[in-house]
Parts: sequence; structure tokens; C-alpha cells
Amino acid sequence: MTTSFHHAGGASLPDSAQMAAIARIAHSEAGIVIAPGKTGMVQARLAKRLRALDLPGYDSYLALVESEAGRDERRRMISALTTNVSHFFRESHHFDLLRSQVLPPLLARAKAGGRVRLWSAGCSNGQEAWSMAMTVLELMPDAADHDLRILATDIDPLVVEKGRSATYDAQMASSVHAPLRKRYFEQRGGQLRLVAAVRPLVSFHELNLHAPWPMRGPFDAIFCRNVVIYFDSEAQDRLWRRFGEALAPGGWLFVGHSERVPVAPASRFVTAGITTYRLLPAAAKT
Ligand SMILES: C[S@@+](CC[C@H](N)C(=O)[O-])C[C@H]1O[C@@H](n2cnc3c(N)ncnc32)[C@H](O)[C@@H]1O
Repeated sequence: MTTSFHHAGGASLPDSAQMAAIARIAHSEAGIVIAPGKTGMVQARLAKRLRALDLPGYDSYLALVESEAGRDERRRMISALTTNVSHFFRESHHFDLLRSQVLPPLLARAKAGGRVRLWSAGCSNGQEAWSMAMTVLELMPDAADHDLRILATDIDPLVVEKGRSATYDAQMASSVHAPLRKRYFEQRGGQLRLVAAVRPLVSFHELNLHAPWPMRGPFDAIFCRNVVIYFDSEAQDRLWRRFGEALAPGGWLFVGHSERVPVAPASRFVTAGITTYRLLPAAAKT
């Protein structure tokens, strides 16, 4: 390997051996596939890490992240390599379906004392989970007084922290319709923060979707949107199977606009809307 870094902001492109090492770590840590040609993207994402650590090049950076002491930096590397683009009510047709079809029976159950669990898997900065919470509150203003909760998880600790802060700048909150923004956000130090009625509904946790899941299911609906596009097909199939195990029968799975879930008989899912699926009951054992 050559040292291809001219220090303090002058990171040049990683060479092919460095790219292969970076791609191998991203795949084994997060299931993310980085094509060999993505050198510009890797350079743009990792240059700031090399600068922050005052390292002379990718070789010393790789030596660090592959060492026992480099555990934290491995997480930061994954954080830098993942794409966190999101916004409130992204792909709004999913929230329309949530409001019109998914939530009414779930909220009736919650009102009758039952348990309801929703999951934003790969939640980025939290806009998806907070959009789910606002949709719930529009139908059931006292939802937080019932056993209804939304879990929001992401592999990237920085976005999890941001989501947990429930605080966004005006630009980020601009995709929330004005009446909802007025109802569910308050001004706080020049930024907008979700109000106290919304905050208890969502809990944020760091979670790698390729690692074991410690939480107790079952979930009634899972949003995993614009996350698996970075995974290879084997990792995607494994995830669909695990979501099938984590969902209650009849549970809903929402994926991103360019993602598809195999449907029955190849899986236990059936199509239930645009990039929306429902879980069939488990086949009766004979
Ligand atoms: C483009 S964002 C999608 C955010 C949101 N779901 C949406 O559709 O707007 C993709 C998110 O997936 C997360 N991610 C990538 N690999 C992951 C993994 N192995 N486990 C959990 N989250 C992962 C990234 O950190 C990033 O925040």
C-alpha cells in the first residue's frame, strides 16, 4: 500500500488495496457494500476523520481501526461512511396509510389496554420516528398514557443522539406541515424542539441491524426505509426474514421507494400498498 495522503485536508484518493480494506471493514461491521469505484465518496467521507486524528494517510487510519484500541474509531468510520439523509414525513404516502389503515385498529387495542409497538429501523436523525409519533398523536392525543411506544434505532451513535435530542433547525423542520409544526414543536434556543406530549412516545437506541436484537417484540409495524439499499442481497434477505420473526401476524413492513421485499410463496409477506407489505400468519404445522 502507498501512503496517499498529503496531510491536513489534502487526502487523495484511496488506492485499490486501501479501498478493499475499507470495504471489507464496512461490510463486516455494518453489512454495507462499497463498490471499488467509490473512491471519491470514501475520500470525501474519511478525509475529516484523518484530519481530526492528524494521521498521515489511509494506511495508518486502517491500522488504527483494525486494532483493538480502534473500536470507537471503527464506529466513527461506519458513521462517516453511512448516508444519513432523511426528512420529516419522507415518502408521505406511508404516513397516509399509517393514519388511515394501520393505526385505527392498533389505537383501539391500545385504548382497550393492549400493547402496541412500532419500530423505525435505521432511523437516522429521528425524523421518521417523530413523524410516526405525530401521526399517532393526531389520532390519539393521549397516546403516551397508553402502552404504545415507538422504538427508533440506528447503527450510527451520532444520529441516535441527534434524534434523542428531538431538536432540529428550522430548515430540517420545514417539511412538517405548518399546523403540525405549530402543534408539536416549540422554540428552543433558536431551534425547534418536539413538545413534551410527543417526546415520551419514542425511545432511541444504537443498534446494528446485522447484530442480535435485544428488544422484546412483537412489533405491529416496522419502517425500514432507505437502509437496505446499501446491503448485499444476502444481508437483505436475512433482514426480511428477521423482520418476519419480529412482527406480529398481520404486522406491517414499510421499505424505501427503491427497495422491494420478496412476497409469498418466497416469503411470509404480501404486498399491501406502495413499498408496503404485511406479514401472513405462520403456516400451521402438520
Ligand atoms: C438514508 S438513512 C434513512 C433514514 C430514514 N429511514 C429515511 O428513510 O429517511 C439510512 C440509515 O441507515 C443506517 N444504517 C446503515 N447501516 C445500518 C445497519 N447495519 N444497522 C442499522 N442502521 C444502519 C444509517 O446509519 C442511516 O442513518
